[in-house]
Amino acid sequence: MTPAIEIRDLRKRFGSHDVLTGVDLTVESGEIFALLGPNGAGKTTIVNILTTLVRPDAGTARVTGIDVASDPAAVAQRIALTGQAAAVDEVLTARENLAMFGRLSGLSRRDAHTRADDLLERFDLAGAATRRVGTFSGGMRRRLDLALSFVVQPVVLFLDEPTTGLDTRSRRELWQIIASLASAGTTVFLTTQYLEEADQLADRIAVLHEGRIAALGTADDLKARVGGGSVQLRDADGALLREIPTDGSVTSLRRAVDDIDREGLAGDVTIARPTLDDVFLALTETKEAA
Ligand SMILES: Nc1ncnc2c1ncn2[C@@H]1O[C@H](COP(=O)(O)OP(=O)(O)O)[C@@H](O)[C@H]1O
Ligand SMILES: [Mg+2]
Repeated sequence: MTPAIEIRDLRKRFGSHDVLTGVDLTVESGEIFALLGPNGAGKTTIVNILTTLVRPDAGTARVTGIDVASDPAAVAQRIALTGQAAAVDEVLTARENLAMFGRLSGLSRRDAHTRADDLLERFDLAGAATRRVGTFSGGMRRRLDLALSFVVQPVVLFLDEPTTGLDTRSRRELWQIIASLASAGTTVFLTTQYLEEADQLADRIAVLHEGRIAALGTADDLKARVGGGSVQLRDADGALLREIPTDGSVTSLRRAVDDIDREGLAGDVTIARPTLDDVFLALTETKEAA
């Protein structure tokens, strides 16, 4: 099967600033793929190249097998980029916005309304269908924006920091919706600064650091790079009493538990797996030391 996205030695410089210095990446069809990196790492630049908004200086990028530089129009037909959907009209209702977008996309009046109702249901906006968008919360807006991306079902959906600025609850609601989109067959390429978000959503994660992919794998692969985590002892209030690092093997875990046992401290023993924050720290520290 043709990969959803293939990037080879992609480079981009703005003025004297080398933003992308040779990015290689393959995203399989049907994956949820997260590009993880701090502010300014170049995530949006990659998304903009893949969605034909920015031209690379060198290297190639293909989306569903089509080269973004040689046939941008064909790429544009197969993708959606949220946040770029036609400006939502604040005065119209959610249903009117969706139906209008459907009409602009070539659907008949009847199909556009059927599609709008279907999307309102799927994106958990049915209860607000006839409210003016101007009254929507941030989370509702983000869901409407996503729904607009699905008026015409994209092959690849790009989400550039989809939950930035949302509260925890809206973020979790959006995560559920994104997961359900991918299970319906759409490839999702998302960028995030939130390590937890990549961990929760993505099949695979690439860490963008100094213009390149510094690490690539599942959340577990990345965590494994940092080591085995630790055995912790906590009191009834959850306060950490004792922590012993391990290499993740059964032997080292057992030894750590035995050590805690020998000290005779009372509390709950838990095994703490490394977080993606630890992964990122470990990767960036290695690079800087090198
Ligand atoms: N059009 C542009 N002109 C000049 N510099 C830019 C432009 N777009 C992005 N940059 C710079 O490139 C770097 C990466 O930006 P960006 O891709 O937006 O990062 P991210 O999305 O990871 O926060 C930043 O230092 C940014 O200031
Ligand atoms: Mg960005």
